[in-house]
Amino acid sequence: MKIATVVGARPQFIKAASVSRVLRNDHQEILIHTGQHYDTNMSDIFFDELHIPRPDFHLGIGSGRHGAQTGAILEKVEEVLIRETPDALLVYGDTNSTLAGALAASKLHIPVIHIEAGLRSFNRRMPEEINRVLTDHLSSCLSCPTETAVKNLKAEGITEGVSQDGDVMYDAFLYNLELAKERSTILQTLNLDPKSYILCTIHRAENTDDPARLTQILKALAKISTPVVLPLHPRTRKIVQELGLSSLLEKVKVLEPVGYLDMITLEAQSQKLLTDSGGVQKEAYFAAVPCITMRDETEWVETVDVGWNRLTGADEEKILEAVEKFSPPADRPGIFGDGQAAEHIVATLSKGLVR
Ligand code: UD1
Ligand code: UDP
Repeated sequence: MKIATVVGARPQFIKAASVSRVLRNDHQEILIHTGQHYDTNMSDIFFDELHIPRPDFHLGIGSGRHGAQTGAILEKVEEVLIRETPDALLVYGDTNSTLAGALAASKLHIPVIHIEAGLRSFNRRMPEEINRVLTDHLSSCLSCPTETAVKNLKAEGITEGVSQDGDVMYDAFLYNLELAKERSTILQTLNLDPKSYILCTIHRAENTDDPARLTQILKALAKISTPVVLPLHPRTRKIVQELGLSSLLEKVKVLEPVGYLDMITLEAQSQKLLTDSGGVQKEAYFAAVPCITMRDETEWVETVDVGWNRLTGADEEKILEAVEKFSPPADRPGIFGDGQAAEHIVATLSKGLVR
């Protein structure tokens, strides 16, 4: 098959690194980079480090409001699809690039393959929730990372073309962890001892675009006695500056966004992870590091159910209490598959099940 893949944002490059490697053994892939993320350390660094094939098309869309960004991607992806006439279009996750790609393809009657299908926060105020619900309903092949995801789709009447394959981010984590041990020098560079710090990430719109929530989070960070390391997403950096909140980060070790090998090294050696990221919640579980999630709900409910992830919202007191006291149980059951999700997905595609 000839498969066109749309990627655009940081976590999608990491997912594509796992899938493209396997997909290209059996199929032809056309890689389309929308340009939603464009800074070197939000995009190129992942292509270089993870040996992701160079995009065949770079649409250069860049940042913008939801309508403008999604619309611009839709228009440009459509042009590529008309020119390339692929047999299917593959999208990952829940970004504006995901939705725009799925919309462009489905209007051209090109079947859509959605990897990371079936995730739900049940919070329609999140742009990601809108993107993932719509993409699932436009897709004919839906690869779910977890059992919950399969159930969520069933509850919306989607049962055809659904498979439970495991999580491609787990594939990426396992594949790269040994490499990271050999190559990453981030702990030495930052002069950090293993398990002596707390790694934090903040970028979700529900936190960054609400000054009250962002202030609560930053106030909590300012009070944590353990050193906090914060590779800062450009979205958050900009808003912290605009709101004049930089003084709350004076004690925090603020970094530019780091590459994946440095990131998983920092994660694995962190005492706890403090985050609002979807990917980082899962990686905490892969690395057996307790996770504190500064959101009101999560799509990765299993990690909370088994006691390895605690939701604190953006509540200063709850965050501080969890940093101090949260301790997961010894048991850490498998949730995310066998580390071969990409192989399972490609096996399904090779059976010609995409219609
Ligand atoms: C997007 C996704 C989010 C995902 C995240 C992964 C949507 C609606 N959101 O959020 O689900 O978790 O990617 O990181 O698709 N910026 C830069 N340089 C870059 C990229 C972004 O400066 O390379 C800044 C710009 O000011 C931009 C802002 O970050 O306006 C937000 O970027 P955008 O891609 O719109 O959303 P993210 O917050 O990155
Ligand atoms: N990540 C990274 N460098 C960073 C921050 C995150 O490599 O400075 C990786 C992280 O390990 C995970 C992915 O980016 O694999 C998560 O992306 P992000 O948090 O931007 O988005 P989300 O998963 O919330 O959609």
